[in-house]
Amino acid sequence: MNKLDNTYNLKQIGIIRTPYENSAPYQPLQNDENEFILILDEKYKDGLKELDKFSFIYIIYYMHKIKKEPKMLITPPWAENKTVGLFASRSPVRPNPIGISIVEIKKIIDNKIYTSGLDAFNNTPLLDIKPYINDLDKKSNAGYGWILDTNNEEHLNLHIKGIPHNH
Ligand SMILES: C[S@@+](CC[C@H](N)C(=O)[O-])C[C@H]1O[C@@H](n2cnc3c(N)ncnc32)[C@H](O)[C@@H]1O
Repeated sequence: MNKLDNTYNLKQIGIIRTPYENSAPYQPLQNDENEFILILDEKYKDGLKELDKFSFIYIIYYMHKIKKEPKMLITPPWAENKTVGLFASRSPVRPNPIGISIVEIKKIIDNKIYTSGLDAFNNTPLLDIKPYINDLDKKSNAGYGWILDTNNEEHLNLHIKGIPHNH
């Protein structure tokens, strides 16, 4: 059997610029009017060829300011009285604090991708970018999982519609 506790090195491919220093939205806000820029290391610039033909991209990043040890059972900040498994959540405190967000491309200039709102802190290391491809990535029968058990549809809707609110 393969060993399961290996570690692997990842390459940072760029940096994410956002207005958020120590607090950020819990998920990207599509209509966030601030400036969000992915700055790619010059050596990867050619890798952006044809990316502007897509409208949305996945951004994969390393949540470098996470210091806490992950717990396998968590209570989301907006769902009191609900305990769920870490991997049934989008908590940033994970064995590998990797974030994934889908954002819209506004424009690409040289090695800079200007995007719609992001939920990452300023200077978050960028690990990867992939095109979001309709039909391949869209699952029309995807549900809301345990989120519907929280009897807090009003709050769920704030998340779905990207309406800013406090937790
Ligand atoms: C709930 S996570 C969701 C991340 C991603 N959209 C996902 O679902 O994988 C977003 C939160 O992670 C935290 N965060 C963002 N960038 C971070 C960073 N560079 N270091 C530590 N925490 C970060 C912020 O508190 C933000 O509200």
